[in-house]
Amino acid sequence: MACRKSCSEHQTKWVLAGSASVALLFTIGMVLGFTLQRGTRSGCEQDICRPDADMLEYLLSLGQISHRDGLSVTWYHAANSQEEMKAALSSNSMVLEADVTVHGLNTANETGVPIMAHPPAIYSDNTLQQWLETVLASSLKGIKLDFKSLKAVGPSLDLLQQLTEAGKVRRPVWLNADILRGPNVPLPIEVNATQFLALVQEKYPQATLSPGWTTLYMPLFPNSTYTQAMVEKMQELVGALPQRVTFPVRAVMVRAAWPHFSWLLGQSER
Ligand SMILES: *[C@@H]1O[C@H](CO)[C@@H](O)[C@H](O)[C@H]1NC(C)=O
Ligand SMILES: *[C@@H]1O[C@H](CO)[C@@H](O)[C@H](O)[C@H]1NC(C)=O
Ligand SMILES: *[C@@H]1O[C@H](CO)[C@@H](O)[C@H](O)[C@H]1NC(C)=O
Repeated sequence: MACRKSCSEHQTKWVLAGSASVALLFTIGMVLGFTLQRGTRSGCEQDICRPDADMLEYLLSLGQISHRDGLSVTWYHAANSQEEMKAALSSNSMVLEADVTVHGLNTANETGVPIMAHPPAIYSDNTLQQWLETVLASSLKGIKLDFKSLKAVGPSLDLLQQLTEAGKVRRPVWLNADILRGPNVPLPIEVNATQFLALVQEKYPQATLSPGWTTLYMPLFPNSTYTQAMVEKMQELVGALPQRVTFPVRAVMVRAAWPHFSWLLGQSER
């Protein structure tokens, strides 16, 4: 998938929690949805212009992709700071992926205000509110928010709900968090799965879920990958949920784990 920034550079910086959002992630078009945008238009007025819409259908309706194939969707990764956000908005990427945490996370400066930053950063020149207002007002691009801390989830979903009630969120929204331990990750850095999923049901159920596994790629063990146990845990967590679900996976590890993902995708019509 197109990664607008230097994927390898980013990966080096954030090897340790190589979370699903790391650039190498390849959002297997596995299930549904992808969003995107193009220049500045007055807004999307069709039925498909809803936060719970299928991303691929949305992009098709905008004419940004010509057939239902997730591989034709282009992404802008880590559109977090004001500068990156502006670069992302003026790019022709169809979907913006950005990371959400809270200001001053786990320090005396913590405020609970959702900001756009990727760990280990805990400060940013862009709050989620500023980000959403700018992105929603100036583009039709799809939105994927990667939650890096459970603390950011509640206030962020409240904000999305307010903007949605105001009629401003007329495009697909994906909510991502790495909620399970994935390949090679020695530490529990995943976002609490039950709490994340419960917050989405409570505060903003009208989105597409993008639950992932934490991953760390280790070149010395290039054969390590996702296991059947990992995908079964995911199925237990999301199998009964009403939302569309799409799984972010680390591209380099997909082929070897394909039988497991194939099983997982086979569990649902969604
Ligand atoms: C809190 O923020 C101030 C600057 O606003 C900074 O000097 C200080 O180091 C921060 N405190 C912590 C615990 O990070
Ligand atoms: C997630 O949070 C729930 C509810 O607070 C708690 O019972 C559970 O132990 C937590 N799970 C993990 C893996 O920490
Ligand atoms: C990967 O390869 C290494 C070295 O050949 C081997 O020791 C290890 O068991 C393999 N791991 C898996 C998950 O197959």
